[in-house]
Amino acid sequence: MKLIMLGAPGAGKGTQAKKIAEKYQIPHISTGDIFRANIKGQTELGMKAKSFMDQGMLVPDEITIGMLLDRIHEADCAGGYVLDGFPRTIPQAESLTKALAEMGTGIDYAINVDVPDDNIVSRMSGRRACLNCGATYHVAFNPPKTENVCNTCGQSLVLRDDDKPETVKKRLDVYHQQTQPLIDYYKKAGVLKEVDGTQNMEDVFQSIIKVLGAE
Ligand code: AP5
Ligand code: MG
Repeated sequence: MKLIMLGAPGAGKGTQAKKIAEKYQIPHISTGDIFRANIKGQTELGMKAKSFMDQGMLVPDEITIGMLLDRIHEADCAGGYVLDGFPRTIPQAESLTKALAEMGTGIDYAINVDVPDDNIVSRMSGRRACLNCGATYHVAFNPPKTENVCNTCGQSLVLRDDDKPETVKKRLDVYHQQTQPLIDYYKKAGVLKEVDGTQNMEDVFQSIIKVLGAE
């Protein structure tokens, strides 16, 4: 099964993608997590990406598309995957459609996790992230068992550099301009599924499973 998670920054794409990946035993591929791992490792790719990410802007398509297409050609992707944070622009979506067509396949579902902007800023300020394994928590809605320590790998949790309220607002603007048009793109392709992302995390997950199981 090949899935795309669509939704605004903070809509819960990463939270749900992790649960989907576990249930269906497919890799969770987050372009944001790949960039953050590269920033942590101080790679050339990471240094390039950081300047854009810290300003709430998108990393240029020339960097992002090649990186993602390389990843989905790896052996563990043969049985499907859940893409989180890619595509984010129409050129990214077109490149993905073309690459998959060349492999004789296509996306099964694009799931739009719908959350209004008003809910987003409060979610982001309470988020804590593990830069080691990509797990995400929330101080109120999904706290770790031990304060500031990742349940999965035991590393310290951080407030992401781009989760400051000013940067979140910029990310929302960028989302509306460049990423929201993908909802129509995948609607036209006949694979769009909408889920109400304002429900609690478990109910959002059950809604997604229902959508996936219904076909
Ligand atoms: P990325 O890491 O993808 O960030 P994003 O899209 O802004 O999304 P987030 O990770 O902030 O939110 P999410 O939807 O995953 O929400 P989460 O589950 O964490 O990208 C970061 C940057 O990298 C971009 O700005 C860009 O610069 C660059 N980049 C990445 N991909 C790119 C691409 N393809 N092209 C170009 N540039 C790219 O949840 C948020 C919080 O809410 C958490 O604290 C969580 O615990 C909580 N929460 C989740 N669900 C619920 C719920 N149902 N109820 C209450 N709280 C909830
Ligand atoms: Mg995320």
